[in-house]
Amino acid sequence: MNLQHQSIRHILALPGSLRAGSYNRRLLEAAMTCAPSGLRIELYEGLTDVPMFNEDTEAGQIRQGGVRRLRDAVAAADGLLIATPEYNQSLPGVLKNAIDWLSRPAAGEVLAGKPVAIAGVSAGRWGTRLAQAALRHTLTATEAHVMPAPMLFLAEARKVFDDAGALRDPAARDGLRAWLDAFLRWIERIQVEHSPVLA
Ligand code: FNR
Repeated sequence: MNLQHQSIRHILALPGSLRAGSYNRRLLEAAMTCAPSGLRIELYEGLTDVPMFNEDTEAGQIRQGGVRRLRDAVAAADGLLIATPEYNQSLPGVLKNAIDWLSRPAAGEVLAGKPVAIAGVSAGRWGTRLAQAALRHTLTATEAHVMPAPMLFLAEARKVFDDAGALRDPAARDGLRAWLDAFLRWIERIQVEHSPVLA
């Protein structure tokens, strides 16, 4: 028996869209319903409270309000799931802004060493490939440990979600489960590599 499977990992799920009917939020809600028993997923809905990053006002804002809540939530999580829309062939500004905040200050980066898995849903046919590539590139600068595979690209959102917002497409649900199973293994791998016993 693998003893590491006995502990529950607390995962923060971050949708990169503020839209009430966001497909990317729905994807993370679906993840909450079909996660493996070793993952407890909590949806983070506070990006709307995160101000635009400004180095002039950073020192005050980082300790309070929406920025502090975001930083504390990420710091406390064992891993991060990010579902990003694609805006103009890249990640949305709201998500990039959040990551910029999380990358500060350089000495206390809460993303450094954090296991992260990324996915995305688009309304059109391309499934957020370019947004995910841009997000992966940005996360590299934060020293987060981004899961390399499997990737999860969902296209034509209206076909994979039903009118109530549930992920109805069987192949999409299988892909989501495989992505979550892989993320649990990815977290275990990162934790073993950083174990003080092995260091
Ligand atoms: C889009 N959309 C979009 N889709 C895509 O596949 N490639 C793109 O470059 C863009 N660009 C883009 C720019 C802007 C400003 C908006 C508002 C939208 C469409 C996008 O995939 C669609 O709106 C998704 O439904 C957004 O994700 P949420 O909000 O449903 O999670």
